[in-house]
Order: sequence, then C-alpha cells, then structure tokens
Amino acid sequence: MPDTRQTPIKVGIGTPLSRVDGVDKVTGQALYAAEYVVPGMLHGVIVSGRIAKGRIAVIDEAAARAVPGVAEVLTHRNRPHVAWRDSAHKDELSIPGDPFVALRDDRILFSGQPVALVLADSFEAARFAASLLDVTYEEEPHNVDFDLSLAEKTLPLWKRKSFHAPKSHGDADTAYAEADLRHEGEYRLATEHHNPMEMHASTVHWHGDGTITVYDKCQGAQGVRDFIASSFGFRSKDVRVVNAYVGGAFGSGLRPQYQVQLAVLAAKHLQRSVRVVMTRQQMFTHVHRPQAIYSIKLGAERTGKLTSMIHDATTSTSRFENNLEDVVTWGMINYACLNMRGEYTVAPRDTYTSSDMRAPGAATGMTLFEIAMDELAYKAKVDPLEFRLLNYSDEDAMNRQPFTSKALREAYREGAAAFGWQGRPIEPRQMRDGREMIGWGVATGIWDAQFSKTSARATLLADGRLEVASATADIGTGTYTVMTLVAADTLGIAPERITSRLGDSDLPTAPVEGGSWGAASTGAAVQLACRSVAERLLKAAAKVEGQPLAAASSIDDLVFADGRMALRADPGRSVAIIDAMQAAGLDRIEVEETAATGLRGLVSQARKSRKTHSAVFAEVRVDEELGQIRVTRIVSAIAAGRIINPKTSRSQILGGVVMGIGMALHEETLADLRLGRWMNHNYAEYHIPAHADIHDIEVIFVDEPDPEVTPLGVKGLGEIGIISVAGAIANAIFHATGQRHRSLPITLDKLV
Ligand code: MOS
Repeated sequence: MPDTRQTPIKVGIGTPLSRVDGVDKVTGQALYAAEYVVPGMLHGVIVSGRIAKGRIAVIDEAAARAVPGVAEVLTHRNRPHVAWRDSAHKDELSIPGDPFVALRDDRILFSGQPVALVLADSFEAARFAASLLDVTYEEEPHNVDFDLSLAEKTLPLWKRKSFHAPKSHGDADTAYAEADLRHEGEYRLATEHHNPMEMHASTVHWHGDGTITVYDKCQGAQGVRDFIASSFGFRSKDVRVVNAYVGGAFGSGLRPQYQVQLAVLAAKHLQRSVRVVMTRQQMFTHVHRPQAIYSIKLGAERTGKLTSMIHDATTSTSRFENNLEDVVTWGMINYACLNMRGEYTVAPRDTYTSSDMRAPGAATGMTLFEIAMDELAYKAKVDPLEFRLLNYSDEDAMNRQPFTSKALREAYREGAAAFGWQGRPIEPRQMRDGREMIGWGVATGIWDAQFSKTSARATLLADGRLEVASATADIGTGTYTVMTLVAADTLGIAPERITSRLGDSDLPTAPVEGGSWGAASTGAAVQLACRSVAERLLKAAAKVEGQPLAAASSIDDLVFADGRMALRADPGRSVAIIDAMQAAGLDRIEVEETAATGLRGLVSQARKSRKTHSAVFAEVRVDEELGQIRVTRIVSAIAAGRIINPKTSRSQILGGVVMGIGMALHEETLADLRLGRWMNHNYAEYHIPAHADIHDIEVIFVDEPDPEVTPLGVKGLGEIGIISVAGAIANAIFHATGQRHRSLPITLDKLV
C-alpha cells in the first residue's frame, strides 16, 4: 500500500498562492530605490527647464551655491566629460534616433527637461537651492500639438526589434468600394502619462574602489548596468544594479531614465554617493503613451462578413527619436478578411519621446479598432458578439500562420455566460433604471505570447531549503511568487522553504521584465535549474541504503512532493531529499541553467503565431442629466495558456481592467500649446480611477492547453488585461445612450 506521505497536497503550478513578498511589502521591509540610506550620500534635486524648445543662455548659480550644505550645482557647462558625450548607448530596447542625454549641451528639446542637478548634504538644502537657480533661455518656436504635428508625419524607420510592419493582402480599396456595408471612422486616444506609485529614483553607492552599487527604479537591472558601464566608462563587473522591489512600472522603467544618468554623473564627478529622486511632477516630463489617431475603413457583405479592412494610424513621437508601436496589425491578425491594408506613421512634436506603456500598440490599436467593429455590427444589425464570431479567424489572418493555440471562442462563450449577455436588446437606449441608461458592450483583446532567453540558479542546501535566483524583476507582476511556485512544483519543496531572489544585476542573466514574457521565461529557467538539481538528487539517492529509487532511470520516473522523491510507478518507494543529500555527503547542490528558444527543443521554432486573447464584457450606467458614467460590471475572460498562479494572475487582470477604465474615462494629459508644457502634471489633475469608480470585476481564465508556445505552456498576462477594456466600455456607452464616442477618454463633457 502506498505510504500516506506520498499523497500530500502539493503546492505548485496552479496553486493560488499569496505573494511571497507581500509581507515584506506591507510591513515596510521591502526597500525601494529611494529608500536605501548610504552613509555620507549627497541628495540631488533636478531642476526642470521652463521652455519647450531653444537654448539655455545664462545660468546664475550664485544664490544656489550660497545655500549652506550645497556641494555642487551640475549643469551642461561644468559637468565632467564622460564617455556618453560621444557615444549614445544602444541596446535591444533602443529606438531609432538620438536618445536623450541629460546635461549634454545647451539645447532644450522639451519642457521640463533637466537643466541642472543641485547637490547638497540634505534633501531640504538641495531643494531650496534648486529653487534659487536662475536660468535664462533663448526660446525658439515649438509645437506640442499632435494635430499640427500630423503635417510632419513620416513612415517610421523600421528598426525596432519588437516592431512588425503591417502586411497587406488582396485589394482592400476595391473590396471596400464594392462592399454591401461600409463603415469609416476616425478614432483617437489622448496622451497618457505613466503613473506608477514609485517615482523614478536612483541611489548610487560610491564605494571608492572603482566600483559602484546603484539602487535604481527600473525593469531590468542588467540593462541599466550595461547602460551605466558603457555610458560612464565603468567595467561591467564594477557596476552592480539592484531593483529588488519596484513600485509599479508598466513600461516606464524599460529604458534607463534621466535620473540614473544624473545620479551616476554626479557620483562620478564628486566621487561620492548620491541619491536622485524625481518628483511626481517630473514624472510628467518624460515617459508617456503616444497620442494616437486611427482611421479605419471596414467593408462587409450584407450578412456582416468582413470583406475589407483599411487601417491607417499615426502616433506621436519626439523630434529626437522615432518611437514606434504595433498599432494597426492587431485587427488584421485577429479577424478573417481577404482584403486588408495597413499604414502606420509617426508624427514628431517637441516633447520627450513617447514610450512603451502597458501593451504598447495593442492597447491603442486593438481598443480603438474594436469600437469600429462595433459600429459595423450595428450597421449589419448583428449582435456584436455574434458579429465577432462571424468574422472569427482560426489562423493569424495577417501573417497567414496557424496559432499555437487560440481559445478565444471559449473566452467569448464563458465570458458571455458569466455576464448574462444573452437576451441583450440589439438596439441602443433600451435599458434604463430611473435616470440611468444602461448599456452592454463587448470587445476582443489580443497580445503577444513571447519568450525571452533567461537564466536561473537553484541552490539546494543540506537542510532541504532551496534558493532560486535570476536577475529578472518583479514590477508588481508576481515574479517572486512565480519562481517559488515553479520551484515548489519541480522539486516538491514547500514554498516556506524556498527563497526567490531577483532584481540584482549580479544574479544569472535575464532580460528586462516587460512584454508579458516574464513568467513564461523566468519560470522556464527556474524549472530547468530545478530539474538539474533533481537529476543530481537522483544520483545522490543511489547512495541511500537499500536504493529505494533504483528502478528510476530518469527524474521523469519520479514524483517530487512533500520534500521527498518517490517512484511514480511505486510511490511507496521514496527517499527524502535531505536523506539523499546526507547519504551522498553533499552540503549543497547548486546549478545554473538557461532557457532559450530552441534549446533542448523547449520552444518550437515552427512559424506559428503566439498570442493571448481576451473577451471583455462591460456594463455602464449613464446618468442622462449629468452625463456621469459608471462602469458597473466588467467580465474579462482571458485565454493565456497555462496559469501558474491563479491568485496573482487574477490580480494582473484586475489591474489591467482598472487601467482600462482609466483609459476609457479618465486618463488624459493636456498641454498648454502656448507654453508647450503638460499642465495637469499631478495626481490631483491627471485623473485615474479611484476606488469609487471601480465596481464589479470578474476575471475568468479559460482552459487553453498549449505545450508548444513556451516550455511551461505559459503565455504571460502582464498586458492582455488592459487591451480593449476601453473599447468594451465605449461600446457599452453607445448601447446605453445611442451616442458614439470615438475619442478616448470619454469624459462627461463629451456626453452632455
Ligand atoms: Mo511593458 S510596456 O513591456 O513593461
């Protein structure tokens, strides 16, 4: 009979586990970049420029320098000459152009550009001195108006690794001209600024021996290390970057930002430790989602079957870099249509370069496209969900490739059932509760399921404790917990006995955490490392008296659970991990492995399309007199392969939905076109959803087995949750009110 110890409740992949870093976070034990205290460090306060374009003429530093405690005022005039002056750093995240370098010269490229760094032995002295700096400018004409910038739009330079140019098929223009049903519309998305809770911050510890440690708010410690090394002339091994905890990022920390340039520059100049923290207002001087305009033409047969799609989108960039995104491709990939054409252009304005923000491209393009699809559904007099099923594509329609999996049909079905979509009146303005008009809308989301080469180390100690480590980040996405669960699953060790380490450039090589590839990639690396540990344990078990596992020829003949390894075919025969270690005289087993595309056949090289999908259902209630919109219900049904941690995965989608509600109703950075400056640069005037804006949100993960997409069958969840939420809400607003809104956010002034 099997030993009862062989049937424990195993914690592993699929167990809803609370964040293993949660207690540290809520008790203040988790340190963020600006919280490290380094003895003798200087505080740097950034002075933001006043004009949008021109030159710095005079900087009067006398009053600032006279403040007691001020150590230095760094400007373009007195900053040290360092390597970056001549060589702009390039890496896989670089975009075409000339990346912004703080204090490079007297040129002003955008409003709020850092013009000086004031350093003092207290933050208060530095801040006060910074307020006394007197800068005189020579202004030049500028433009921050997106509409005016459209006159200068250009095809992007197709040079970004993550960018895929749209592919055309058939003859979209003729098919559109000949279509029974036609819809043409122009859709817009406002500029949105990144607003993670943690501001960009860097604390540089100058050790005095040629090495530095930099605590930095970023999504990839090794990327920032490489940036610092190549920009400031350090040897890579002399720079350690730590980002053990990150207070939200959403893409704002993919690239090194200017505070880390300034902090390292000052540290190197003064040979001292330095901390630089951006203010909330300074967070509005740089990272933002591109503003967008998207023209869509759709043609269909009388039944609603699509015959033509014509996409034409333009997004904003700066004058010094060409930021590009996949905007127009998503609808082309998602829907069956024989004639399709897409064009994508970028328009420069005198702002900082737009940048990646949660689901860059798809959050814009698919969301807006789904409003256009809704409009055509009404023209065809077909239920919007039926309409999408009618145009469902079982292959990637733009790339003409099979999917590794696509359980979108199931997402539609399960989402609709949970929402209660059936019986929805097809015409708008049919549901009402007192003064409130009620509407139901649906939209489809799609995002990449990517995989990125990642290494991890596993260290098993004689007492059965395990550490897994990788230089990846946890930007709130749950990576610590994913690593713990995968390790627990592979080696059958309880999560309490596992420590996950990440966020340190000295750990095994990992890419930036972004693109929704983190869980799939880090998870695979941790699994590989733990499997190697398992192989060594099996060898060690041969030394155990009686050799209970002699019948196992590989670890696949074993089950790992409850700190033991047992024969799969005869679970009564088992060995405790610690006994195997002891028998073999091992005090530790340490292995590092790398998970990579094609390695050991882990990831299929086949030319297949790898995507996650979602079906988002929204209910809104609109007050007819006040124009107030409430999003009272959202059901988000997600098809994203295997779910490692249902609990934190649900949280990912909840967060995405909330951010999508912000995109639909709130988020919009407004510029004073005369000053060329973002005006609502604070949490009070830049609106994001508050608790009172959030009502019922239900998250469903549909079953989607996919052994092919990545080694663990995981597709990634960081970004799919936001995509098309705003589309479903816009569609629900139409259903409630009969008013079609094509410009996000839909603020109440647009309704009344
Ligand atoms: Mo995400 S925009 O890849 O951090």
